[in-house]
Amino acid sequence: MPVLDGHAADDVRAAAEALRRGALVAFPTETVYGLGARADDGAAVGAIFAAKGRPADHPLIVHVTDAVAAAHFAPAPGGAATQLMARFWPGPLTLIVPRRADIAAAAAGGQDSIGLRAPAHPVAQALLRAAAALGVPGVAAPSANRFGRVSPTTAAHVAQEFGPTLTVLDGGACPIGIESTIVDCTRDPPALLRPGQLGAAAIEAALGGVRLRVPDGASPRAPGTLASHYAPAARLRLFDDARSLAAAWQSLTPQQRRAVAVYSRLAPEPGGMRAFRPLPAGADEVAHELFAVLRAFDDAGAGQIWVEQPPAGPDWDGVNDRLHRAAAA
Ligand code: TXA
Ligand code: MG
Repeated sequence: MPVLDGHAADDVRAAAEALRRGALVAFPTETVYGLGARADDGAAVGAIFAAKGRPADHPLIVHVTDAVAAAHFAPAPGGAATQLMARFWPGPLTLIVPRRADIAAAAAGGQDSIGLRAPAHPVAQALLRAAAALGVPGVAAPSANRFGRVSPTTAAHVAQEFGPTLTVLDGGACPIGIESTIVDCTRDPPALLRPGQLGAAAIEAALGGVRLRVPDGASPRAPGTLASHYAPAARLRLFDDARSLAAAWQSLTPQQRRAVAVYSRLAPEPGGMRAFRPLPAGADEVAHELFAVLRAFDDAGAGQIWVEQPPAGPDWDGVNDRLHRAAAA
């Protein structure tokens, strides 16, 4: 049953049943596709680490229907986490909270905290509800890509990563397109571990004006914060502005230009490059298409990807974070 229809009730039930049995199921969320397994089954969770090639001490996010279901894994999440769940769940926000000691140790990578998220995507919600009805308390799911690679935002991307034998619940293209914002609520004040579409300012406002901490040495390990994460196969070069991109372009031979894919507001010339995609004006539009554009450039055989740096500013934090990591790889 490799590709299931996320909008067909029978297929959602089949996917939930597969999760119940301990099988892996990839599913859509509003951010990116996740590679899911029941969070309370150490062997099923182990299969995620094996499939991704991810080190076993890197914790996974556990997906739940809502704050009530979250209490199963974290009965005492603390005041800040409780406020953020009430304000932003379901939604693109992952909260790191103290874990109930006797549950989901493998999913948590052995840490005494756990990352929890209630996704808003209707297909994810339907799957989590159907699985819960079968006794599955939560679904551990990292992004459905091999370790260190670009996260998938369509079912086809997932199949590209893991081949046709993995069961994928297809819910179309993910609306947001970059991974959830992660806030570590085991510390006071909480720390922003990974920026996403939901911005720091909105989180700080929901907490009554508390300033979020920037991650430091005491913050938990989060591979999503490694400099080399989220990389396409081609080398990604980030230019400060269109002028510096155009200047670098002028210095290439026509043959060198044919190896370069360009993502910028204006093409440096009408043709001559491997591929060109116009950089949209809005941060949400760029986030939505970013990973698909990087994959398309890889698929087109680009040797290099040249990107014009989008504007600075809080709306762009998530996109700029992913671009800087991809450029550092
Ligand atoms: O949008 C998303 O968050 C997607 C969808 C599928 O929900 N998931 C995702 O998962 O991006 P993943 O595993 O690719 O990234 C999760 C990040 C990792 O950097 C992980 O280390 C961190 O969350 N994380 C999870 N649990 C943690 C914990 N207990 N302590 C610290 N970091 C944690
Ligand atoms: Mg990931």
